[in-house]
Amino acid sequence: MQILDGKALSLKIKAKAKEDIKTLKAKGITPGLAVVVIGDDSASHTYVRMKEKACEEVGIYSIIHKMPDDISQDKILETIGMMNKNPNIDGILIQLPLPKHIDTTKVLQAVCEKKDVDGFHPFNVGKLVLNLDTFTPCTPLGVMKLLKAYKIEPKGLDVCIVGASNIVGKPMMNLLLNANASVDICHIYTKELKAHTKRADLLIVGVGRANLITKDMVKDGAIVIDIGINRLENGKLVGDVAYDEVSPKCSFITPVPGGVGPMTIAMLLENSIKAARSR
Ligand code: GUN
Repeated sequence: MQILDGKALSLKIKAKAKEDIKTLKAKGITPGLAVVVIGDDSASHTYVRMKEKACEEVGIYSIIHKMPDDISQDKILETIGMMNKNPNIDGILIQLPLPKHIDTTKVLQAVCEKKDVDGFHPFNVGKLVLNLDTFTPCTPLGVMKLLKAYKIEPKGLDVCIVGASNIVGKPMMNLLLNANASVDICHIYTKELKAHTKRADLLIVGVGRANLITKDMVKDGAIVIDIGINRLENGKLVGDVAYDEVSPKCSFITPVPGGVGPMTIAMLLENSIKAARSR
């Protein structure tokens, strides 16, 4: 069993990002990222702080717009409109989830496609489906980079993705399909999850339920990617896979923490640089 070390790979990507940003700065371009975070969801604020810190480390100018939980949709749209026009801002990220009274689709659609570093705008989602160059959502893009770094070729693999979210599962499905894998995508209405997971050469899980995937659900020699992040009552951070019992069966597995999480942030830096380059 080999660990897919997202932490180590993300450090290499960050070092390269720092160099790329130096080159851009020499041409008079400082990449700028604006992040909007609404309400007081503590996980969202933690993620935003991590993104801000990563930007600072590599030399991306970042600005965080914190808005109260009861902010009106019009005010959010007005702020996005201002950021769309601001020439110093190359990337705009709306931290999800948004409060219930806000129409998420409307907000994501308001972000200029050229500044959509999360790849959540319907225009960019469509381009991903068609396998055209676009901004790709950071978590699934990070998984693809991790596979590539360990020379894991998706072509011809039987893949099972557990979790069909717009942020992770669906873009992951499109990336792997575009890479010629056979993709099976499961969700809360899947009748017998184990029948699907057990067949997979590559099992990718991102639903947010600790110990969802146990050893009886995993094929011998499978590659397992754990995108879940769950805080147990004792404070320990774990994924969706019961790591201790599943890892001995795997050819490769991502740890939590230190697997996909750091790759997500590294991909946000890469997408921000991509946006700045097309300024
Ligand atoms: N909420 C959970 N994951 C993400 C992400 O990758 N991007 C944004 N914007 N919000 C999230």
